[in-house]
Amino acid sequence: METPIPRHIVDQALKESGLCDLGKASIREVLRLVNNIEKASGQQFIKMEMGVPGLPAAPVGIDAQIEALQKDVASKYPPIEGISILKEEASRFAQLFLNTDIHPAGCIPTVGSMQGSLAAFMVNSRCRTGKDYTLFIDPGFPVQKQQHHVLGLKYKSFDVYNYRGHQLRAKLEEYLIQNDVHTIVYSNPNNPSWICFSENELKTIGELANTYDVMVLEDLAYFGMDFRHDYGKPGVPPYQPSVAHYTDHYTLLLSGSKIFSYAGERIAMMMIGNGLFARCYPDLKRFYPSDSYAHAVVYGALYAIASGTSHSAQYALSAMLKAANEGSFGFIEQVEEYGNKAIVMKKLFTRYGFQIVYDRDEDAPLADGFYFTISYPGFSGSALLKELLYYGVSAIALNITGSERNEGLRACVSQTQPSQFTGLELRLKAFRENH
Ligand SMILES: Cc1ncc(COP(=O)(O)O)c(C=O)c1O
Repeated sequence: METPIPRHIVDQALKESGLCDLGKASIREVLRLVNNIEKASGQQFIKMEMGVPGLPAAPVGIDAQIEALQKDVASKYPPIEGISILKEEASRFAQLFLNTDIHPAGCIPTVGSMQGSLAAFMVNSRCRTGKDYTLFIDPGFPVQKQQHHVLGLKYKSFDVYNYRGHQLRAKLEEYLIQNDVHTIVYSNPNNPSWICFSENELKTIGELANTYDVMVLEDLAYFGMDFRHDYGKPGVPPYQPSVAHYTDHYTLLLSGSKIFSYAGERIAMMMIGNGLFARCYPDLKRFYPSDSYAHAVVYGALYAIASGTSHSAQYALSAMLKAANEGSFGFIEQVEEYGNKAIVMKKLFTRYGFQIVYDRDEDAPLADGFYFTISYPGFSGSALLKELLYYGVSAIALNITGSERNEGLRACVSQTQPSQFTGLELRLKAFRENH
């Protein structure tokens, strides 16, 4: 049967890629494969494998960064703990958009959230002898597991699909009761499934963190992007749900990559709760000069990894946060386009026989946002990923995200333009007719 991309071209590219099982391929490996198929076939893919911003970077950030460079910040090493204006604006942002008091000292810039999670894992895993495991509430962002592998750290994980709402407590306690977990990690909204934890679920996580004295790493890469609610008005409820409302032993990761489309400058904030910031763990002295948690993060881990975060990018982020705090930059309105695209794309997929895998938040239908998950009857995720390549559509398998839904794929909406919707529909129609 004929397919939009000739079969022999896809087969040849697959052979040359050396990838035996696409279900295990990383995001960047799928990207490289798709680029090669595009080159060989001369046809453009509907690219849904990588979560890159599909919007231009926020101008207020660019202007501030240029101005900072012209003032010669490039010649000076930045303070590792961050420039004070950024720390102040981040703390204000926490107050205005999270309704949470985080002292400026605990707001620390990092080279993307990736560096923030790396530093957190390097410190959290060494706070207490015997508490050696990170607990991932999956599905999750695969690179954080990769960080564990390269650091030689241990983790446990479970797929939250069957443990939403009141079922979450017992499932978490199954792990926490063993007393070997140092940190609970999740993203909210969730990459890859786009489930969003309710305040009740976050309360459960926070209460258990207090009971079992574990830390929480809440990854807010998609801050405010549950478009069912308007979290974008400074100082006005509703606020972004967060574990910070229920425990003081947390670190939030606030990334500039998606909310401000600033991924290329690799800028984010670690926002350490006041309680955790002040905490001392004598066992830290095995690896760091001090038993202070905050000291270990800044002058232990971050100093050792990159000795600070790009000076000019810190000015960019300060300006974007300041504009958001003052209400002059509606950053959530800017990214709402992702939700609008998801509505159309989910409709197209389901019209042609696909199913949404993660489809509910407790009793509510899932939000429309940056990602959604799909399956097709009779296909494993790995087989579906391969078959879709012949139709010029790319995604990643849920397999690599810690999901137990082996039939599923993650689709990212950001790179697909509305002008491509007709082309996507034709390809999905052809897929349906052939299967
Ligand atoms: C859940 C999650 N965490 C972290 C990141 C990385 O963020 P950054 O670009 O700030 O390193 C991403 C990027 O896709 C993500 O989806």
